[in-house]
Amino acid sequence: MKPEVKRVIEQGSLEGKEAQDIVRWAIEQFGDRVALASSFGAEDVVLIHMMTQVTPKPRIFTLDTGRLNPETYDVMDKIRQRYQIPLEVMFPKTDSVEQMVREKGLNLFYHSIENRKLCCGIRKVEPLNRALSSLDAWITGLRRDQVVTRAAVKKIEVDDAHGGIVKINPLAEWTWEQVMDYVKANQIPYNVLHDQGYPSIGCAPCTRAIKPGEDFRAGRWWWERPEQKECGLHVKAPSH
Ligand code: ADX
Ligand code: SF4
Repeated sequence: MKPEVKRVIEQGSLEGKEAQDIVRWAIEQFGDRVALASSFGAEDVVLIHMMTQVTPKPRIFTLDTGRLNPETYDVMDKIRQRYQIPLEVMFPKTDSVEQMVREKGLNLFYHSIENRKLCCGIRKVEPLNRALSSLDAWITGLRRDQVVTRAAVKKIEVDDAHGGIVKINPLAEWTWEQVMDYVKANQIPYNVLHDQGYPSIGCAPCTRAIKPGEDFRAGRWWWERPEQKECGLHVKAPSH
């Protein structure tokens, strides 16, 4: 890790910085060794817009689980056209998916938490690990007020769960309202499911709209009790 990056992490000096400045800093420091992980939710399209203010060739990867909503594919294409940027689409390993659905069925996730984690592991976590293996840093759209498990997210942190690369969360302190205001003010293409009661969007069979007053992530894996609300993309490494 470059001394400058180490210093910034140790001193927490990105905490007072604006999201656009953090995105700029990240691209200046890491060049094409940093990429945004994008699910094309509102947070991620904000970050794509910010990245294109810094470079015409931002690196953006997405994990296409094979089970996304059609509306998510629509926004991917709109973003590609609006910004004229390539998207790095990661697919799960064919063999693993084939074996899983042969043994457990296509909708295995409804039957147990174990099955759900198996599916997320094959369709999301393994492709994420593959994408991160060639990077020094990744940018995400994590926000502190999405869910209690994210309340302590820092704007920059060392990601021990992914080999100690750097994880940058420029929107950590943004609210949902700020995100949507930025999207609208800059006329950024966004997932139309946000207008249909879906603040948080994952895979189609595992995401539903929320009712007024429900938690931000209540629509994710809504059938699970006790609720888990994480799929393994954003885990902390176990402490030793
Ligand atoms: S998840 O862990 O529950 O699925 P969430 O949907 O809240 O994550 O998104 C948080 C951040 O994780 C996004 O802003 C994005 O950076 C990353 N992310 C989530 N899903 C994907 C995906 N399918 N492809 C790439 N990045 C993703
Ligand atoms: Fe599978 Fe659902 Fe996880 Fe998507 S969110 S990878 S469909 S269990």
